[in-house]
Amino acid sequence: MSVRSRLRILAVIAGIVPPSALAAQDAPYESPPEALPRVVAPQPVPFDHKLHMDHRMTCVDCHPGAIESERAGLPDRDRCMLCHQAVAADRAGVQQLADMASGTKISWERVYRVPDFVFFSHSEHASAGLQCAVCHGPVATRSVLRQEISTNMVACMNCHAQRQASNECYLCHDLGQ
Ligand code: HEC
Ligand code: HEC
Ligand code: HEC
Ligand code: HEC
Ligand code: HEC
Repeated sequence: MSVRSRLRILAVIAGIVPPSALAAQDAPYESPPEALPRVVAPQPVPFDHKLHMDHRMTCVDCHPGAIESERAGLPDRDRCMLCHQAVAADRAGVQQLADMASGTKISWERVYRVPDFVFFSHSEHASAGLQCAVCHGPVATRSVLRQEISTNMVACMNCHAQRQASNECYLCHDLGQ
């Protein structure tokens, strides 16, 4: 971020200029550069979204929080084993699951992440009628996930501006302390 941008942002926080000065089009704030799609490290257990979606699963079978809470959540070993106790038990990836203790949390390599100082809630966006693909791309057709869509501040604010959602700083940032 340039020194000029930082000063503009401080000026907004201090109330000297309105937040609209930072609105999308002439955004003085530049999000850190990103090259999309962004490849992530191989997953600890091979997982193929396309294969599983072709077997008529729904996104919330494995990410229940994506419509009902802040975090979508990622499945643990036991959720996979609901099927894999019986299905494809001879495959290497499934044997890896079977060898884990019951209750094991898998350290999935993260694809989408916003910094801790940003507030984001899945349930609020789901109730606004937004489909997963708007922010994550065509996951159901992907065997390996990469970050395809930007989730930086400019991307958040562009959609908010388009859909008449608020772009007040405090919506996404806790400026209280
Ligand atoms: C609702 C049932 C279901 C759940 C839950 C499920 N799977 Fe599967 N999985 C399947 C089916 C069906 C196949 C395809 C089997 C085949 O090819 O005949 C499969 C195949 C696989 C394979 C083998 C792929 C290959 O090409 O060798 C792996 C590895 C796998 N799943 C991992 C996982 C992981 C990891 C989870 C948890 C995050 C999971 N599965 C959850 C149903 C499920
Ligand atoms: C059978 C379980 C299963 C189903 C069904 C499933 N996912 Fe996933 N999802 C996973 C697992 C396991 C990971 C972590 C490994 C990976 O990134 O591929 C993951 C990762 C993701 C991520 C990246 C999370 C991050 O930031 O690290 C997104 C986004 C995602 N899934 C969206 C979806 C969407 C959208 C659907 C429906 C089209 C869906 N998933 C269906 C198991 C599932
Ligand atoms: C408005 C944009 C948006 C929509 C719509 C959206 N997501 Fe996300 N998703 C995000 C962002 C941003 C993150 C990173 C959150 C963080 O780091 O706290 C994320 C993270 C995730 C993760 C990683 C685990 C987690 O909870 O952080 C999964 C899995 C996921 N999303 C699945 C889904 C699924 C499934 C849907 C549809 C039901 C969906 N998302 C809809 C923006 C979105
Ligand atoms: C594709 C469009 C879209 C994108 C992208 C998007 N939002 Fe939103 N967001 C909305 C809409 C529409 C609402 C209004 C929901 C309502 O009023 O019911 C909203 C509401 C919110 C709210 C207030 C509701 C709540 O959760 O308390 C916050 C905070 C928020 N968004 C944060 C973010 C952040 C952070 C990002 C980027 C990581 C983001 N949004 C990306 C469309 C979007
Ligand atoms: C709709 C959500 C949203 C709104 C509204 C929003 N931001 Fe952000 N902001 C983000 C996200 C996401 C990031 C992290 C990604 C990035 O840097 O682009 C961020 C990052 C930042 C950073 C960078 C911090 C750093 O040093 O890395 C600053 C400063 C900032 N925002 C200030 C503001 C100010 C001032 C406003 C009000 C004009 C504002 N933001 C409104 C979502 C939002």
